[in-house]
Amino acid sequence: MMKLSNLQEKLENSKQYLPAEDTFFLADNIEGESGNLALDIGCGSGYLTNILKNSFNLVIGTDISYYTLRQQNYKVDNVICCNSADALRINFDFIICNLPYLATDEITDVATDGGKDGLELPLVIIASALDHLSNDGKFIFVTSSLSDYMGLIDFVKSKKFTAKIISKKKLFFEELILVKVERLSS
Ligand SMILES: C[S@@+](CC[C@H](N)C(=O)[O-])C[C@H]1O[C@@H](n2cnc3c(N)ncnc32)[C@H](O)[C@@H]1O
Repeated sequence: MMKLSNLQEKLENSKQYLPAEDTFFLADNIEGESGNLALDIGCGSGYLTNILKNSFNLVIGTDISYYTLRQQNYKVDNVICCNSADALRINFDFIICNLPYLATDEITDVATDGGKDGLELPLVIIASALDHLSNDGKFIFVTSSLSDYMGLIDFVKSKKFTAKIISKKKLFFEELILVKVERLSS
């Protein structure tokens, strides 16, 4: 696990993640979603948060990097600097996250690096997202063939949620994977 002091240093040097293939992949797959409360975890530039604003009554974006939130190219009003959804006390109908999924020995860039097997940061983010999903809520995250995405899916299932791969997109050097999570109906 990365030491907290190192994390602070990384955050101070972090730069806004500008919309890329993975951002557009998620954007394409949230068209048609609508409802009351939506959350964009790791909102970065705010590109996806702005899309959600068109079809949800209240949209919140979170990011662990204050520097990213200060720089946002697609500014949104409701942004909170925190880990995943930890600062929030409400549950959401719809949660999205374009995870930092790269498998890396060290976390050098919080925008892209997931740590060992691409699991370290994603597991922390996903655990918090699951705690903030309303009963009929839906959580969609982007991961990649470059990470142990089955490890993420197994983790979600172990928490009594369903997790299904709903879309894949081949790029030159990886395959993007979109996972939909819902509560197991009792
Ligand atoms: C791949 S970028 C995605 C940015 C934007 N959502 C997009 O799709 O273009 C991942 C984002 O997650 C943020 N992030 C990393 N770890 C986080 C955490 N534990 N909690 C909240 N945000 C985090 C990073 O700062 C970065 O902005």
